Amino acid sequence: MNRRLFGIMPDGIPVEEYSLRCGKLTCDIITYGGVLRSLAVPDRNGRPVDVLLGFDHLEDYIHQDKYIGALIGRYANRIGKGRFFLRGKDYKLAKNDGENHLHGGEAGFDRRVWTAEAVGENTLLLRLTSPDGEEGYPGTMEATVFYRLLQDGLLIEYEARCDCDTLCNLTNHAYFNLSGHDSGTLEHQRIQIFADYFTPTDEWNIPTGEMKDVTGTPMDLREWNPIGRYDHNWILRGGTADFRLAAKSVSSDTGITMETWTTQPGIQFYTGDYLDGCPAGKGGAVYRKRAGFCLETQLWPDSPNHDNFPDPVLRAGQVYRHKTAYLFR
Ligand code: BGC
Repeated sequence: MNRRLFGIMPDGIPVEEYSLRCGKLTCDIITYGGVLRSLAVPDRNGRPVDVLLGFDHLEDYIHQDKYIGALIGRYANRIGKGRFFLRGKDYKLAKNDGENHLHGGEAGFDRRVWTAEAVGENTLLLRLTSPDGEEGYPGTMEATVFYRLLQDGLLIEYEARCDCDTLCNLTNHAYFNLSGHDSGTLEHQRIQIFADYFTPTDEWNIPTGEMKDVTGTPMDLREWNPIGRYDHNWILRGGTADFRLAAKSVSSDTGITMETWTTQPGIQFYTGDYLDGCPAGKGGAVYRKRAGFCLETQLWPDSPNHDNFPDPVLRAGQVYRHKTAYLFR
């Protein structure tokens, strides 16, 4: 595994980049935000295509606010009104998305420099300690993420522990473009999501609490559909612990097909509608609205405020464990 200095944080902390290779796949990961900076996959002619949006310079990661490629914590997605009750206590979090809390707050896990350790050639282990009260969340949390590059894709394993009961919902915010990160928008790409229900939301993307059948709605992606405009959570089939196929996506330009597998109960499919205004991407690529899509495997949004949603509480002494794989066929 190669390692290099990627940049220096304004406070002097160095940020490193690790380059993983396995068979025909290569992947670059930086310690700032645990960002997946590139993932090159062969197209139908064997030519490598970088399918992830990313930047060449640390400054661009610091300046953008789209969570590009980053690990998200402590709670991915939204918490309505930035407020939750836990063990009889009322917690208030930053309102960094209108009146609501998004992706862990002003400086979530995406803004932290993680500690990295190479485990053999193909696996990078990242660790982070989040102090008690960080961004308003209770308890000291130890988070660990394994990025394992496989012959046919990338496996991400998440673990977390906390010294008291707290909330935990970790994901990755990679933006994929299966025609290549610099190919423009998503026109020639299609998606399937294996979900029979979704969680309808209000105009601020906060779930109403309902679980709605996708049949007869634009949320029915059980068959192949062109990638249009989406920013919703789907309720995945099967139990939380099952590692199962959640989504498939394909580019007719490159022939690259990606499968998303996960143990998580939900998936936020977001088609990059707020990408405008990004700094120039790798090699000067321009990332406009809908230049990439995210398949964020996670709990359902605002679970702390809905008793009928999956339990978002990580109990003291328990280990939070989830995994997600992006596999290429
Ligand atoms: C959310 C979007 C949000 C975006 C921020 C996504 O996970 O679903 O609503 O705008 O993150 O980049």
